[in-house]
Amino acid sequence: MKVLVVGTGARENVICESLKDDCELYSYMSNKNPGIAKISTFKQGDEGDIKSVAEYAVNNNIEIAVIGPEGPLGKGIVDELEKNGIKCVGPNMEVAKIETDKSFMRNLFEKYNIEGSLIYKVFDNYEDIENFLDNFKKDVVIKPVGLTGGKGVKIVGEHLKDNNEAKEYAKKVMDTKMGGFPQVIIEERLIGEEFTLQAFSDGKNLAPMPAAQDHPCAFEGGGGPITGGMGSYSDANGLLPFLSQEEYDKAVEIMEKTITSIAKEAKPYKGILYGQFMLTSSGPRLIEYNARFGDPEAMNVLPLMKTPMIEVCKAIIDGTLDTLEFEEKASVCKYIVPDGYPETIYGDEILEIDEDKINSIGAKIFYAAVNQKEDDKVYTTSSRALGIVGIADTIEESEAIAEKACEYAKGNLYHRRDIGTKELIQKRIDHMKKIRG
Ligand code: GLY
Repeated sequence: MKVLVVGTGARENVICESLKDDCELYSYMSNKNPGIAKISTFKQGDEGDIKSVAEYAVNNNIEIAVIGPEGPLGKGIVDELEKNGIKCVGPNMEVAKIETDKSFMRNLFEKYNIEGSLIYKVFDNYEDIENFLDNFKKDVVIKPVGLTGGKGVKIVGEHLKDNNEAKEYAKKVMDTKMGGFPQVIIEERLIGEEFTLQAFSDGKNLAPMPAAQDHPCAFEGGGGPITGGMGSYSDANGLLPFLSQEEYDKAVEIMEKTITSIAKEAKPYKGILYGQFMLTSSGPRLIEYNARFGDPEAMNVLPLMKTPMIEVCKAIIDGTLDTLEFEEKASVCKYIVPDGYPETIYGDEILEIDEDKINSIGAKIFYAAVNQKEDDKVYTTSSRALGIVGIADTIEESEAIAEKACEYAKGNLYHRRDIGTKELIQKRIDHMKKIRG
């Protein structure tokens, strides 16, 4: 069977790895990702140019396309491919709005009485922002409306001093059309621990994956600008050290209700649904949905999935998705990024990686936003370069493997050494204990 994976990063690299043994693999990517290039027949091109991707798929008799990033989903790549007879793992444009249109998502929660929402408003003028913030007694989060890969988000108490500073920043987001819209989202700031729950959906059935926790802040300890995600971990029991089975089940229930509601409101949602939750003292609350795998979180869960990915893709398409099995192992992913990321001056530098050494200590490598040029060398870009994953019985052991492996990538690079460490995990547990009172 011929399968096409669309996308360029580490998320797509791990998707390709999970498919490569069971199909004839093709890929369509903007940069030459060496991890994907060595296991697929590939074409380099703009993956957001959905007509060209469809043309490539048709010319190569592709039967199934798996869409990695949100950009092409938002442009209707699935509709375009389906028009050409190609089955897809990824939602149609109308329901990819669960990620690309935050009002669609919040309205769905309201209309169908789905629990776990939060206070949220979209603004397009400064006067309304001022009125709202002058009367709102809680801290807020400021977000651009369009897709920014998590960048541009600022939180009162972390990046902004108070709601007055939030007013100024909200104005800037709106005035500069950050994310592509002259609008800004203001949300209530939730207190708790964030976690990610990813699930496959065939339109009616949801198959959840192990929970994971990403680390969006650039610096160790949690400071610095928000990035696409600096690394993530998952635990052997599918939960997290601060997340109970009951809380996990509640998050699954919220996602199941979302899938049922979206089918009533628009059309069945087929693909991967990514729930970013805040675990609060009153249980999980939904911060946002993504219409695709998480990056880095895909690297935590896909290597542990026992059911072959190709079978999962077929079940999504046929509407026969069932419970999935995962290895009872923990995982830690650390992202190696150009020094200074997300505002790096070290893009386009040679990345030296000793793959043999990394493999010999049992870690996995997934290439991200890098580019293999004609000289065969791998160059950084201005975004994340390399996902390194350790898998073992415990988070602590997985962290040690991932950390050791990071020594074998050389250049003007940085990674967060604290992700997955015992100290950081204990902080999360203590934080939740304090919040629960
Ligand atoms: N881990 C953040 C994201 O995938 O959007």
